[in-house]
Amino acid sequence: MIKRLWARLGKSSLQPTDPVALENMPEHVAIIMDGNGRWAKDRGLPRMAGHHSGMKAVKRITMEADRLGVKYLTLYAFSTENWKRPKAEVDFLMKLPQQFLEIELDELIANNVQVRMMGHKEDLPSFTLSAVEEAIVKTANNTGLVLNFALNYGSRKEMLEAIKSIAADVQQERLTLDDINENVMADRLLTSGMPDPDLLIRTSGELRLSNFMMWQLAYSELWFTDVYWPEFSEKHFQEAIMEYQRRARRYGGL
Ligand code: IPE
Ligand code: IPE
Ligand code: MG
Repeated sequence: MIKRLWARLGKSSLQPTDPVALENMPEHVAIIMDGNGRWAKDRGLPRMAGHHSGMKAVKRITMEADRLGVKYLTLYAFSTENWKRPKAEVDFLMKLPQQFLEIELDELIANNVQVRMMGHKEDLPSFTLSAVEEAIVKTANNTGLVLNFALNYGSRKEMLEAIKSIAADVQQERLTLDDINENVMADRLLTSGMPDPDLLIRTSGELRLSNFMMWQLAYSELWFTDVYWPEFSEKHFQEAIMEYQRRARRYGGL
């Protein structure tokens, strides 16, 4: 415990005046960043302006998560269902990772952030994928915050692919039915090697998962806010963490 606290102290720049407590910091926070379109609409702006502004929130919250000593931050940036949107919006969204990384990669590197991506790479345009892959390679040895972008991610697709790979191993007798357990399944998900999210945040007042991390969120604490993503601030993030720190996690026990 003491050792863990020291480790945390070493990498977080939490101040004594911060309202969040150093101990019991969520190790993994996942966020469904929602409400960009409505934020723009309220201001008479095109939806794209909302997405652009949402990118600034990504930067803000990444830096705050890093400062607080959160170890993993997973951000839902594009779902397997978001291809249903008008082509112009999809095209715009696909350019955002490249834009974001062009502006922010150096600072992410300076802050020892490790960029990762989880999602189905096949359908992504090559310029999107190569920008993300470049960031992954350049930050692979960083040991600070893991910034995990869920890009073309869908939980059902993720689980189906895991099940197919297990089935193939059974068929080829590399695994028996008795070998299959929660760890075998978890190892074949896109989050393999990462802890499950401790805290899930969804902005914009929607109260659903929208196909996000349905296996991994089994025991996560859920926190919802009406605030639209472009307006989500460090203060809101701290509020979510403070609420998390007040909760009792029982995992079915007492
Ligand atoms: C979230 O904002 C960003 C993505 C899904 C890519 P939306 O674009 O869903 O914004 P709303 O929900 O229409 O306001
Ligand atoms: C979920 O938001 C996906 C992302 C935030 C990337 P959506 O706006 O796509 O979800 P629904 O359609 O309201 O469920
Ligand atoms: Mg939405």
